[in-house]
Amino acid sequence: MCSSSVILPPSPAPFKGQPSEDTAPVLTGGRRRPYKLSERSGTALIQEGSNAMSSWGLKNRLARIIRPATGRTVMLAVDHGYFLGPTSGLESPAETIAPLAPYADTLMLTRGVLRSSVDPRVDVPIVLRVSGGTSILSELSNEGVVTTMEDAVRLNASGVALSIYVGSPYERQTLLSLAALVDDGERHGIPVLAVTAVGKDMARDARYLALACRIAAELGAHFVKTYYCDNFEHVVRTCPVPVVIAGGKKLPEKEALELAASAVRDGASGVDMGRNIFQSVNPVAMIQAVRAVVHGDATAAQAYELFKSLQRPAPRKARAKARAKR
Ligand code: 5RP
Repeated sequence: MCSSSVILPPSPAPFKGQPSEDTAPVLTGGRRRPYKLSERSGTALIQEGSNAMSSWGLKNRLARIIRPATGRTVMLAVDHGYFLGPTSGLESPAETIAPLAPYADTLMLTRGVLRSSVDPRVDVPIVLRVSGGTSILSELSNEGVVTTMEDAVRLNASGVALSIYVGSPYERQTLLSLAALVDDGERHGIPVLAVTAVGKDMARDARYLALACRIAAELGAHFVKTYYCDNFEHVVRTCPVPVVIAGGKKLPEKEALELAASAVRDGASGVDMGRNIFQSVNPVAMIQAVRAVVHGDATAAQAYELFKSLQRPAPRKARAKARAKR
């Protein structure tokens, strides 16, 4: 996992955990924060000796997703096609995923894209989207489970993900599906990520998101994905399992990095980000900047500088290019 190494150009301002420029960046090494399990982010759940999760396999898989070194994760969400079809930037999933996979702690995707578009030799944990059955043209909350736990095991998934639609027409159906999936996941040692999908009529505020996250945790979800909002600390404080945030619709890179930085500052265990990475003008630079925030505690400004510097050609290459032009 994360075996690629990239030489970074000099970064304008050092940030905590930032590696020196001649070592692999945030991705493979450099100085990391000391091992610290944050009770606030719920990562204490994976501590040895905790009774909260009985299965060693389940804890081990969760530790592959949420990195013990930082208690955080950079999940790359590329599952959008399961109801949106060929989303912009994901028209050819293989082309999008290949350069980004070395920088992702986890890929979140469907079994169809996993089988068709990801090299099985790649060493990256998979969180398999197992809910679906609807499209953007229908009532989205009417989802069911479309991939069995046996298939998830066959695909060597480290986790499975299902959306819940609290307050939507099929709320009950999706919550019962979550409870059943947790039973199945516990049986197989596979952690379950509940995704709090927000219906058209719902406000993405702390009151609603805390309700949805807490219900997901009460039903047994091992970690939860939701949206960042004002008073996000309340969402995290009232959810006893780790919370990661979705990126949402594409923002300018600086704003997306501010979103990620605010979320981890307020207790998120990381991001499960899609469009703000793969729709970026430079997805590979962007995912590294997001990693700097999540695993290196970089500020948004520092991460944005990193993003910009990664876009510039390395000085030696630039010189060679200029020479070739003469
Ligand atoms: C949809 C999902 C998607 O994976 C997620 O929302 C996509 O991430 P982003 O919003 O960052 O593009 O779970 O329900």
